[in-house]
Amino acid sequence: MSERADVARAATVLRDGGLVAFPTETVYGLGCDAESPAALRRLFAVKRRPIEHPVIVHLAGAEALESFVTEVPSTARALVDAFWPGPLTIVLRRSGRIPDEVTGGRDTLGLRVPDQPVARSLLGAFGGAIAAPSANRFGKVSPTTAADVRADLGDDVDLILDGGPCRVGIESTIVDCTGAAPAILRLGGVAQAGIEDVVGASVELRIAGTTAAPGTLPGHYAPAARVMVVERRVVSLQASSLLASGDRVALLMLAPVLAELPAALAVLDPPVDVDDFARVLYTRLRDADRAGVDVLLVVAPPPDGVGAAVVDRLTRAAVGTGPQ
Ligand code: TXA
Ligand code: MG
Repeated sequence: MSERADVARAATVLRDGGLVAFPTETVYGLGCDAESPAALRRLFAVKRRPIEHPVIVHLAGAEALESFVTEVPSTARALVDAFWPGPLTIVLRRSGRIPDEVTGGRDTLGLRVPDQPVARSLLGAFGGAIAAPSANRFGKVSPTTAADVRADLGDDVDLILDGGPCRVGIESTIVDCTGAAPAILRLGGVAQAGIEDVVGASVELRIAGTTAAPGTLPGHYAPAARVMVVERRVVSLQASSLLASGDRVALLMLAPVLAELPAALAVLDPPVDVDDFARVLYTRLRDADRAGVDVLLVVAPPPDGVGAAVVDRLTRAAVGTGPQ
């Protein structure tokens, strides 16, 4: 079937209250009609997500924003102008248009306009807002290919649109614009420095606790393999000691020097730079699980640009170690 026919069918599925997985530039989303409480209840059930965890609403364009929120403060407007369409979610006070199921009853709403072509076609064809968390079961690694979605959700999703691998590879940056000053609730595809350039001031990072953006819990993003974040200079030593204890060990890092590493260490296809690290991170975590790795050693990339979000995900993956 042509892509256009797939998108038209997906829009019909959404209108009928069904679930459609679709690509975005960040990760694949599991979408439903954001204005249908029944569809939202099914989405939460499939995702196995606690009902109080709010879901991001995806729009075709910034023009639609006003009807979903009570006001668009000037900072939010500047961020929208700078980064939409793109990997930025803004949190604003919601109007009555979106049901409680989307927001877990809270009075704020996370919104974003993705820039992935298939996502944009779908939003255009559907004509409404699409509520979409990442298309993985709650607490697991986000999917960055259609095959990842199929592996996680199987037949629980009515239709999967395949847009190829995601360009960014980690989730959107979330900025709360409901307070006196904006705050970053989740690091992601738009770098903190980019947000601060637009805001014209330093922006508070409010990512530690579980209250700001419920769902950014420690222990999220964990594969079955145990993730250990290590310094470059101790990789060889750490790997040797784990291998000696009988573990199957893999390594993910920029520019590994194979001659310096134990032969039994499985060196995963290395990312070429920080952006590539973000793009391949979740795929490599899945690769490690598919290969039956016990421990995945990771040397974090420098925290520049999207690197800070990679470090954040690695830290959470390392907390939530072990099979679950
Ligand atoms: O890149 C992304 O944002 C992807 C794609 C599919 O758009 N979506 C995504 O959704 O990562 P999800 O559900 O996996 O993560 C959404 C995050 C959660 O941490 C949630 O707590 C936070 O957004 N969030 C949503 N609405 C919020 C609100 N009103 N206030 C605070 N946090 C909110
Ligand atoms: Mg998620």
